[in-house]
Amino acid sequence: MRKKFYITTPIYYVNDNPHIGHAYTTLACDVLARFKRLDEHDVMFLTGTDEHGQKVQMAAEKAGISPKDFTNKVSKKFESLARKMGFSNDCFIRTTEARHYESCQKIWQRLMDRGNITLSSYSGWYSVRDEAFFAENELVNGVAPTGAPVEWVEEPSYFFNLSKWQQPLLDFYEKHPDFVAPKSRFNEIKRFVEGGLNDLSISRTTFDWGVPVPNDQEHVMYVWLDALTNYITATNWCDMEENQFDKWWPADLHMVGKDILRFHAVYWPAFLMAAELPMPKRVFAHGWWTNEGQKISKSLGNVINPIALIEEYGLDQIRYFMMREVPFGRDGDFSKAALINRINSDLANDFGNLSQRVLSLIYKNLDGKIPSIPEEPQKEDRDLLNKLKEFPNKVRALINEQSFHEALRIIWDVIAESNRYIDKQAPWSLKKTDLNRMSEVLGILVEVIRCVSLLTQPFMPDASDKLLDQIKVSPEERLFSSLTDINSLSGRIIEKPEGVFPRYLKLKDA
Ligand code: MSP
Repeated sequence: MRKKFYITTPIYYVNDNPHIGHAYTTLACDVLARFKRLDEHDVMFLTGTDEHGQKVQMAAEKAGISPKDFTNKVSKKFESLARKMGFSNDCFIRTTEARHYESCQKIWQRLMDRGNITLSSYSGWYSVRDEAFFAENELVNGVAPTGAPVEWVEEPSYFFNLSKWQQPLLDFYEKHPDFVAPKSRFNEIKRFVEGGLNDLSISRTTFDWGVPVPNDQEHVMYVWLDALTNYITATNWCDMEENQFDKWWPADLHMVGKDILRFHAVYWPAFLMAAELPMPKRVFAHGWWTNEGQKISKSLGNVINPIALIEEYGLDQIRYFMMREVPFGRDGDFSKAALINRINSDLANDFGNLSQRVLSLIYKNLDGKIPSIPEEPQKEDRDLLNKLKEFPNKVRALINEQSFHEALRIIWDVIAESNRYIDKQAPWSLKKTDLNRMSEVLGILVEVIRCVSLLTQPFMPDASDKLLDQIKVSPEERLFSSLTDINSLSGRIIEKPEGVFPRYLKLKDA
C-alpha cells in the first residue's frame, strides 16, 4: 500500500503582503511534498491564510474596508505568490471558510465536554503583533520578548487548563524524541514546559473578528486556537461526505518558523491531547533570514519581495539558493553576492557546463545518439557508477530529516566528481583517437545527468524538466524508482542541446 504524507505550512496572517519569510517556509514544504510524490507517497500539502484576530481587524480598519473585503484581497496575494513560486500545494485553506468555523467549534466542544475549558476573566498583557498573551515576568523592558509592544487587557475570558497538560506533554516528548527538530529547539521547548505552564486564555470579548464561541456570542475564539485548527479543518473533518480525516490525520510534518514553534510544539499538542485527538508526528522549526546582515523589517524598508527576486534572478535559481545557502534550521543571511555566486558557480559552471558539454559532444559526434555505458568499465568508470548507485539513498535520508542543504551538497559532490572525471577522460580529445572510449565516457556522463536531474526535480522543477526532456526521459520515467534503471537511455536520439542555467551577468549601472 502507498504511504501517505501530510505536510503543512503555517497559515499566513493577511495583515501584510507576502515576503521572503513566507516564501521560504512554503518552499521547504514544496520541496518535501514534491520529493515524497516522486517517492510514490500519497501527498497532501496544505498552505493558506490566517484571517482572524485583532491584527487583521486593525489592518482592515487602516485600509478603510471591512475585514471580509480586506482578507479577500490580501489572501489572493498569497495564492498568487504560491503560483509564481511554482508551489505544488494541494489545498489552500482560509480561516474565514464556513467549514473552518465548524471545525473550530467542534474542537471547542470536545475540549468543553472533557472539562478542559472554564469561564473566568483575564487581566494581563497582550501583544497584537504576536497575537500572544504575556505574564508580567515575561516582559523585557516593558515590551514582549519579541520586541513587540504590549497592551493591558482586562476582560471576561474562557481558559484552557494548559497547566494540567505539563506532565503529559513531557511524557510525550520523552517517548517521541524526533517530535521537534532541530534538537536544540526541542531542548528549548522542553525547558519551557518544565518551567511550568499557565492556563491559557482562549477567547476575547473586546472585538468580534473571529470564530464565535459556541453558546456564547459575546466571545470570539483566541486566534491561535482558531488558526492551529486549520490543519484538521483541511481534512474535511466536519463534512459527512467528503471527510478525509482518517486518511490524512495526523499530519506527518508541521513546518514552522522558530518564532511560532511554541504554539505548535506546546499549545497545539496540549489542545489535541485534551480533545483526545491524535498528535502530529513532527514539527520542524526553521531559522530566519536577514537582509545583507540586517534584521528584515518594514520600518527599515528592507523587506525582500520574492516576486521581484524571481523576475531578476529566475525562479529555480532562487529556489536553489534558499535551500542550499543556509543549513536548514539555522538563521541565514540573504546577500546578492552570495546569490550570484551560487547561480554562476554551482548552477552555470558546475551543473550547467557539465550537461552542456556532454550533450553537445553527443549531438556533434554521435549524431545525437545516446551511447551505452561500457561493458567492461575501467576503475574510474566504476567509481563514478558506484557513486550513482549510492547517493540517492543518502539524499533520501537527508530529505527525511529536512537537511535540504546537505542533500544538495551530496548531489553537488557527484557533479564535482563528474567534472573531475570529464576533465581527466577528456572525451573531446578522444574523438580523434578512440571514438569507442569517447562513447563510453559520454554514456556514463549521461547517466550522471539523468540521476542528478531526477533528484533535483523537487528543488528546481523547471530546469530539471528541461534537462530530462533533452535527454529524452519520458514523464513516466521520472519517479525515483527509475533511478536504478542505469543505461536505459542508450540509443535515444537527442536534439541540439540548449543551456538551462544561464550565467547572471548584470552590466553595472548600464
Ligand atoms: N499566522 C501565524 C501562523 C499560524 S499557523 C497555525 C503566523 N503568520 S506569519 O504570517 O506571521 O508568519 C508565518 C511564517 O513566516 C512563520 O513561519 C515565520 O517564521 C515566517 N517568517 C516571517 N519572517 C521571516 C524571516 N525573515 N525569515 C524566515 N521566515 C520568516 O505566524
